[in-house]
Amino acid sequence: MQENFSPDEQFAFNLDARDPLSKYKNKFYIPKNSKGEEIIYFCGNSLGLQPKTVAAAIDQELIDWANLGVEGHTQAKNPWLPYHELLTEKMAEIVGAKPIEVVIMNTLTANLHLMMVSFYQPTKKRHKILIESDAFPSDKFAVASQIKHHGFNPKDSIVYWQPKKGKNLLDYDDFENILKKHGQEIALVMLGSVNYYTGQFFNLKKITRLAHSYGCKVGFDCAHGAGNVNLDLHRSRADFAVWCTYKYLNSGPGSLAGCFVHERHAYNKNLNRFTGWWGHNKQTRFKMRDEFDQLPGAEGWQLSNPPILSMAAIKASLKIFKEAGMKNLINKSNKLTAYFEYLINEINNPKIKIITPSDPKQRGCQLSIQVKNSDKTLFKKLTDSGVITDWREPDVIRCAPVPLYNSYTDIFNMVKKLKNCLHE
Ligand SMILES: Cc1ncc(COP(=O)(O)O)c(C=O)c1O
Repeated sequence: MQENFSPDEQFAFNLDARDPLSKYKNKFYIPKNSKGEEIIYFCGNSLGLQPKTVAAAIDQELIDWANLGVEGHTQAKNPWLPYHELLTEKMAEIVGAKPIEVVIMNTLTANLHLMMVSFYQPTKKRHKILIESDAFPSDKFAVASQIKHHGFNPKDSIVYWQPKKGKNLLDYDDFENILKKHGQEIALVMLGSVNYYTGQFFNLKKITRLAHSYGCKVGFDCAHGAGNVNLDLHRSRADFAVWCTYKYLNSGPGSLAGCFVHERHAYNKNLNRFTGWWGHNKQTRFKMRDEFDQLPGAEGWQLSNPPILSMAAIKASLKIFKEAGMKNLINKSNKLTAYFEYLINEINNPKIKIITPSDPKQRGCQLSIQVKNSDKTLFKKLTDSGVITDWREPDVIRCAPVPLYNSYTDIFNMVKKLKNCLHE
């Protein structure tokens, strides 16, 4: 998308004035500095801001718990027994899945393990897992521990997709070459949807098609994709995906995670899995004596009765997404990020470089700014000036203007401060 942007402040005001989603900013608490002034928050890729409706949603459950005790499971305004079902459809819409493919449960890394129990079934010949060379550490640990659990050595069984020398982004020709070389030995391809460090958004369909053609299973960690980009999980045909709800999905620190299992596995009883009573047939769950009778679809992977207070926050947040519409959010996000990129490029300072792809199809809202000589003082100055971003070792400031609560004026002000910090 080629936009005609202009570097003056009035231009940002005009974009905000014409933005149909600008009213959503007021639905969130924007953190303030010690003087009570709103800070510029570009950290929705780490922890999303709190919707103002969350407190009431949690309060409703606290009131029902106080008034009803255990009866709340069936008598609460939103009965707790089927509470997670209130979230499924809206969440499925956000990630481009069918409701049967989605469940909210556990936390991200826990779900990743559960999925690998089912979709990583190594054999002597096919025991490798392909991941990004700079995959998020928790994913690396989870993958290595699964490999060890099956009696293999991570040194032999992890294959890395890495950037070409001197580059930051991953190239598909390298991915194809890895498959040509190791495809018959790779049991699972497990990648981020959007890489946490570079912000590169992968082509999930292309990756899945290629990996499946070599007989590999495919899973995605969508921590940085859910609520940010068009994941289109069902059509990607990935075997599974997992994500958290505390980043772009604004559901609070450590909140519950999402899990996708493609529809074609919905009724498969032969898949290995770890089980618990919440994955059991709802009609007979409380009979307590039955053999495990799995629920169809992603719900069948549930273990425990879920924490309702955390789900209440997710419910409040998803309502906002439903109202705003994922498509509209992505449209605004593309424009916000393009404007952000334009203003940073206008600074034209050799100390910084954007490493995120400039093609909007290959990124979400995050721009990763690489700082020359890994100079973290720039990040510190930026923070002191009232801009919240985050620093990721070794040399990147990650900035994520999110379309629900960031404005074009936020971007203008952020870049103005960045420019000042660079000249200090
Ligand atoms: C890409 C990615 N994967 C995994 C995790 C770990 O998530 P959790 O602590 O919720 O298991 C994170 C956390 O930020 C992440 O960004």
